[in-house]
Amino acid sequence: MANSRFGYVREFEDYDRLLPSTFSVVRIDGQSFHRFSDTHQFAKPNDKRALECMNSAAQFVMEEMEDVTLAFGESDEFSFLLRPDTPLYDRRKAKILTKVVSAFTSAFVYNWSRYLNIPLAYPPVFDGRVVTYPLPKHVRDYFAWRQVDTHINNLYNTSFWAIVQQGGKTEREAHKILQGTVSAQKHDILYKDYGINYNTLDEMYKKGSVLVRDPPPLPEVPKDGAYKEKKRIEKLRKDGIDGTRGSVQILHVDIIKDDFWNQRPWLLAQ
Ligand code: GTP
Ligand code: MG
Repeated sequence: MANSRFGYVREFEDYDRLLPSTFSVVRIDGQSFHRFSDTHQFAKPNDKRALECMNSAAQFVMEEMEDVTLAFGESDEFSFLLRPDTPLYDRRKAKILTKVVSAFTSAFVYNWSRYLNIPLAYPPVFDGRVVTYPLPKHVRDYFAWRQVDTHINNLYNTSFWAIVQQGGKTEREAHKILQGTVSAQKHDILYKDYGINYNTLDEMYKKGSVLVRDPPPLPEVPKDGAYKEKKRIEKLRKDGIDGTRGSVQILHVDIIKDDFWNQRPWLLAQ
């Protein structure tokens, strides 16, 4: 950038950086997707095509940004995990956040017609935030929080729309029927009243979408102490396995229990 007497205005720029050696999660969310999904006649409660279009946009983000090692999506939101020592954009928050939101949004629009055969009625908008998490435990709990949310919402929404669509009740009546019910009662309503076995529904609806890169999961190792675990991660890194290379896989698996993380120790390596 050429120097001029106007260059001093750069001094006003605010360089807000991610904390060093800290995990970061960018979460994006569709703006007013209640309206967007109605306008585009999304199937209720889950529109497979729309969810796959979301996944394709997240895959593009990961292909654009190799330091994103994991993504998790449900409904109109996606979370992206950045490895703790990413040097991306000199760790400037605004640049990282805007790149994720912009890459995701444009890929969503770009891929739309591959998944949905209804024309886009207006441009979808996504907002985003970035949060730093100092410990692997925070990262685990963050993603568990999102997947629990997926489960709770999906069970509620599946029951709600069964009562409305199959049961012929109004939305107000459906709310009332479900008010105060626990999970087992919703399973019962679905099975007994509507013949729906919740457990057999599409895994993408129940668990959300999990994007990681090859290599395929390693065999699970017994818990062998912090030192050996550290050595194992060092070796993986030396072998070039740090979650930043390889093709992106789209999975619908449990990320609350230990297995997923034990099979991919690089995700939580510090
Ligand atoms: P803001 O995010 O606050 O702007 O509002 P929002 O309308 O986007 O609501 P929110 O993000 O809380 O929830 C997402 C909404 O998107 C859901 O409530 C649904 O209405 C809609 N949605 C997301 N995925 C689907 C889907 O697969 N099918 C249908 N029918 N609707 C969906
Ligand atoms: Mg939204």
